[in-house]
Order: sequence, then structure tokens, then C-alpha cells
Amino acid sequence: MPESGGTCLPSENTILQDATTRFVGAADNHALDEAKAFFLGKNGQLQTLLRGLPSLPAKERPAVGKQLNALREKIEQLYQEGRDRLRKEKMQRTLSQKIDVTLPGRQIESGGLHPLSLATERAENIFSSIGFGIADGPEIETDYYNFTALNHPPDHPARSMHDTFYTSDGRLLRTHTSPVQIRHMLSHSAPPIRAIAPGRVYRCDHDATHSPMFHQIEGIWIDDTVTFTGLKGVLGAFFRAFFDDDDIALRFRPSYFPFTEPSAECDIRRSDGDWLEVAGCGMIHPNVLVHGGVDNTQYRGFAFGVGVERLAMLLYGVTDIRQFYENDLRFLKQFASE
Ligand code: PHE
Repeated sequence: MPESGGTCLPSENTILQDATTRFVGAADNHALDEAKAFFLGKNGQLQTLLRGLPSLPAKERPAVGKQLNALREKIEQLYQEGRDRLRKEKMQRTLSQKIDVTLPGRQIESGGLHPLSLATERAENIFSSIGFGIADGPEIETDYYNFTALNHPPDHPARSMHDTFYTSDGRLLRTHTSPVQIRHMLSHSAPPIRAIAPGRVYRCDHDATHSPMFHQIEGIWIDDTVTFTGLKGVLGAFFRAFFDDDDIALRFRPSYFPFTEPSAECDIRRSDGDWLEVAGCGMIHPNVLVHGGVDNTQYRGFAFGVGVERLAMLLYGVTDIRQFYENDLRFLKQFASE
């Protein structure tokens, strides 16, 4: 604090010396900030000196004020130099770290799509190329969309607890992708309607050839001129493209589904000569069109449901369905480059 009547230089010099020692010796930014507060803060040393100004004789005040300003600038400069010094030191430390260039690099393993995803994508691309859109629906369904709207009689075996997973609030895990038929019709104003709906489905079934969760691709085409011949044509074109084989043999066997009439199972012939069922299909039942809000006097449609696991097993030569769900990297890695 300036002594009244005398010069304040000695005490300013002392402050400057102290400040130099502290800023030059500060080991980190925190120490620098503390020192700055000590000298320049609200209750810091410089403020104390400034508060003494009014008690000085008026003619000395301007000169002392000027000196104090110069002191503040010098301290600020010391602070800035301190920060620069610390930054440089840190850089030096980083640069002088020894790097062992002979160490092996860290590898980032790239993942790949699951074979079931690959098969689904392949099917989606083919159907898109012949004008099908891609639709979606919930896996937790109501009894209405999964059964009633699809013309299932009340005593149909699929409705039993034995075959279907029910939730405690009375809904169910969809047993097929067919409920998307109804949802899609209802959400589209008028035919032509042409869409596929790939997704997971669930059934109380678990053995070597059945999984309680598997995948299907539903397909519908509704218009005023749709025929069963058209259905055979579309499925044939799809399987030929999917397996990249123009000579693929298809077989349609009469079958029964409550929501199609007539109905058929579609088999394809494997290389060993055996037939394998790959799809259920048929002409959409008039009652189903009504539930979907489609005028069944004007429009007709066909529908099909393809099993994705079956397709992928045939495409990739997989013999056990369980391999798709075991997450064995030795199995999955074989598809990684696709
Ligand atoms: N939803 C039937 C099933 O899961 C398959 C199917 C779909 C049959 C569309 C006819 C029409 O077995």
C-alpha cells in the first residue's frame, strides 16, 4: 500500500518480484490462476494499493495511478507467459514420448450382416425390382389381426395356447406375417396394392428343425385382374432370381389356409432331388379383402408367405437351422465379406 506522502515504488517492486517468482514457478494452470487471483483479484494486492489512492495528495495521484496500471499490465503479462510456458512444456513432454513403431497396430474388426439379413435383403431387392413396396407391422399383435380378420374359425388349432405365445394382457406374438396383409390394405386407399412384409414370427415349437422364432416374407398383390397364374409367375420369377438359376423347378400342391382360397404350398427341388416346401400361397379370401376395406366385387388378390430360414439354408447350403441363432463366429464369419 502506498505510504502517504512517500513513494509507493518499493512496495510495487516487491509485488512485482513476488509475482515473478510465483508465475515463473507455477507448476500448472491451477497455480497460475491462484496467483492471478492473489495479485489481480477483487481483494488482491493491486486492489489494496488502488484503494489507498484517494488518501494520497492530489498531485501525486495521477503518477501513482499510472504506475499501478503499468504494474497490472506487467502481472497480466507474467500470467500469459506462464500459460505459454506450460503449454510448451506439455507439448515437449508429448513429443518426447517414445513410440515403439514395431508394436502391432490395433485392429478394428469389421462386422458383417447375418445370413438371414443377407437373404432378406436379397429378397427385398428382387421384389423391389418387380414393383413391390416394403411394408411393416408389429410383432406383438392382437388376436383380431393375427386370426379373426384372416378368417380363422374360432376353433382353429393355431389359436390354442399350445401353438401360440400369448401375452398376459391378451395379445399375442404374431404366428405369421399375414396380419400385415390386413394392416397394409387398411392403410392404403385403393388397389393396386403390391407389397412384401419381411419380419419375425413366433410359434411354440422347438426342435431340430423348428425354432420358436423364425422369419417370413409376406407378399400381396391386389388389383382387378390378378390371377393364380400371376401368382405362379411372380413366385417363379422370384425363386429363379433368388437362386440365380433359370432352371429351378417349382411345384404347387393344393393346401388349406383360412385366408386364401384356393390355397397351395409351393415347393422347390433341391440339388439332391428332394422337394422342399418354401412358401404358402393362394388367392386372398373374399372375407379377408372385406376386413381390409377392399371391395371384393371389384378386386382380387393373391398372397404368399415365404420362409426366410428355408431360403437361406438352400442358398448357403446350411443344413441345421439352429446354426442361424447360435452366434458362433466361425459360422457367421463365412458371410462377412458379402
Ligand atoms: N401365413 C401362412 C403361414 O404362416 C403362409 C401364407 C401366407 C399362406 C400367405 C397363404 C398366403 O404358414
